[in-house]
Amino acid sequence: MTLRFIRTGLAMLLAASALQAWAQDFPNRAITMVMPYAAGGPGDTITRVFAGAMQKHLGQQIVVDNTAGASGSIGTAKVARAKADGYTLLMIHVSHATNQAMYKSLPYHPVDDFEPIGRATSGPMVIVARNDFPAKNLNEFVAYLKANAAKVSLAHAGVGSASHLCGLMMMNALNVKLNEIPYKGTGPALTDLMGGQVDLLCDQTSGTVPSVKTGKIKAYASAGKTRLPQLPEVPAISDAGVEGFDINISFGLYAPKGTPKPVLDQLTGALQKSVSDPEVRQRLEAMGISAVSADLARPEALRAHLKNEIDTLGGLLIKAGVKAN
Ligand code: MLT
Repeated sequence: MTLRFIRTGLAMLLAASALQAWAQDFPNRAITMVMPYAAGGPGDTITRVFAGAMQKHLGQQIVVDNTAGASGSIGTAKVARAKADGYTLLMIHVSHATNQAMYKSLPYHPVDDFEPIGRATSGPMVIVARNDFPAKNLNEFVAYLKANAAKVSLAHAGVGSASHLCGLMMMNALNVKLNEIPYKGTGPALTDLMGGQVDLLCDQTSGTVPSVKTGKIKAYASAGKTRLPQLPEVPAISDAGVEGFDINISFGLYAPKGTPKPVLDQLTGALQKSVSDPEVRQRLEAMGISAVSADLARPEALRAHLKNEIDTLGGLLIKAGVKAN
């Protein structure tokens, strides 16, 4: 056995044991969880639930960093560039898949530049309007849009965002073209909806159910085939005979490519404990959101989910001729 071979073997052994020792010390300082949409939106709400739950299991504070803009791609790029040490994470949903189809040149690849940690939630969307929108019920709403589309404004969180996808599906299903108003998140969009500066929004229930219940905005329909348990009086859009429209939004947690496996395993473990935490599940269910089961809060499940969304929703947007730049 040559001396060089022995030296190489020893070096690899030393490196592996140093990595193991370093990983055992993880985390020894606060972790940043990037939410690539503005504070106050549905993504921000979900991120703060998981930051609060995971920090209990990891024993270090998790700070939520709302780096918003360009439909989540600015915050996502920030994580792709971050040091692969487990201290910078990304909580994101469908726009991780759709941005690849929407932007000619992204400074990252949604698969190659990230390590999946696990899925976190799934949840429906609801079509809401400013309180004085001129339609008393779902049938009048559909009729009004078909007759007045050019006068109606639709808020969303940027091309390829969940609220944009839902708006697209609604316009396609009703064969209307509304005036799109992009925001850095549906938190700011909701503020304008409540103020009457914008007419409509299709948003995740984690951002809208509380405002509907307090009468600050009104809901016309759930964006799918079934009613929302949290808003039982609100019909499903399919109740008005509007088909081909059913959207569900899932969030997942990622780390930068190259994050050591022992660190990823710890993060996956903390995520699995969080999705199984009864308090987390109850808080989310009150907003119409479901925490996934622990077996889906794993890298393989998130990897498969992302591939499916890239293949399906990305394709839908390309077919619809939607481009961001
Ligand atoms: C969206 O995709 O519409 C975003 O999740 C909205 C948000 O979280 O602000």
